[in-house]
Amino acid sequence: MIIGVPKEIKTLEHRVGLVPSSVKEFTTRGHTVLVEKDAGKAINFTDEHYKKVGAEICDTPEEIFQRADMIVKVKEPQPQECAMLREDQVLFTYLHLAADPVQAKGLMDSGCVAIAYETVTGRDGRSLPLLQPMSEIAGRLSITVGSDLLQKHKGGTGRLIGGVPGVRPAEVLIIGGGVSGFHAAQMATGLGANVTILERDNDRMRFLDEYFHGRANIVYSNTDTLEKFARHSDLIVGAVLIPGASAPRLIKKDMLPTMIPGTVFVDIAIDQGGCAETSKATTHDKPTFVIDNVVHYCVANMPGAVPLTSALALNHSVLPYALKLADHGWKKAILDDPNFRNGLNVCKGEIAHREVADSLGLNFSEAPRALAA
Ligand SMILES: NC(=O)c1ccc[n+]([C@@H]2O[C@H](COP(=O)([O-])OP(=O)(O)OC[C@H]3O[C@@H](n4cnc5c(N)ncnc54)[C@H](O)[C@@H]3O)[C@@H](O)[C@H]2O)c1
Repeated sequence: MIIGVPKEIKTLEHRVGLVPSSVKEFTTRGHTVLVEKDAGKAINFTDEHYKKVGAEICDTPEEIFQRADMIVKVKEPQPQECAMLREDQVLFTYLHLAADPVQAKGLMDSGCVAIAYETVTGRDGRSLPLLQPMSEIAGRLSITVGSDLLQKHKGGTGRLIGGVPGVRPAEVLIIGGGVSGFHAAQMATGLGANVTILERDNDRMRFLDEYFHGRANIVYSNTDTLEKFARHSDLIVGAVLIPGASAPRLIKKDMLPTMIPGTVFVDIAIDQGGCAETSKATTHDKPTFVIDNVVHYCVANMPGAVPLTSALALNHSVLPYALKLADHGWKKAILDDPNFRNGLNVCKGEIAHREVADSLGLNFSEAPRALAA
């Protein structure tokens, strides 16, 4: 198969669909990989690195889109990329189509087969293995970013995250102990902070309790516990998720004046609307704003700040799926694996994912599955 890796063109996107070590996996199996000139340059993967592992460097995205059987990317295709996709071409990338009717139309018009990273499910049929690395990164980053913002000149409480002998460390409150909350807690406990995780799923609380074994307090999440712990926290991380729904607005505006002046609030859940009434999405250019002395950090694309780590982690998760597509073709690859099949979003002009179709108010079509069979 011919696999194409165009340079990402979305603003401030520095990741790349396939890193050189992944390209090598394809070329050693006899596939051809086309990589756009300078596609990995921002994270120090040069064209020379790609050539060494057998990739062919192309000067333009047009050449890649014309020649490739499958395009592997990171971000959703931009309008000019949708216009270059062709019938039967496989597109494997993040799509986040549910709220993007323009992109949905572009993909449907192209006749391509679009498989979205974010709807591929794990063996349990529920987890989202291609979203997980980004939550892991956002969780860990929330503590490095948050502890930096705790410095007085950045608006924070002025408390050092790990304290020093004789002076207590910072209080870190993590709301939601799922993937991102767990990784935030790992970092915060590692730095010596006093960590409390608010959760409401009993099985998850048991897991967290066993894992942290006293290094973090695991507390049932309700309005009372949230209000109590938020009042005394230096750093609060919002890491809740209710699958398929907007984030619950757990931190009410009138809670802010009860908090310590300079409290830092990192809202990881901002991509689902945020978990405070005062949250609004920010970008890496201007990541914070202050309301009632609470420093809000609400960047919707936190992993974009560390594109090298993000590209590598994403590749580790994506590679086995991308290789299946290349080795067996999309029909056999998704037919063999119902969880991989959940990634199919658009197929030859039709929406092939029920929830995506419902969100867009478009018809859901069973036909692509039948086609694969
Ligand atoms: N901002 C970013 O750059 C970025 C990056 C990656 C992920 N995210 C987002 O972060 C959010 C969390 O992702 P995740 O992968 O950690 O989700 P997850 O499903 O693994 O974890 C969410 C946890 O929240 C818990 N929860 C739900 N309601 C709660 C409540 N009222 N109180 C306490 N806990 C509650 C759930 O039980 C679950 O354990 C998602 O919205 C995800 O899209 C954002």
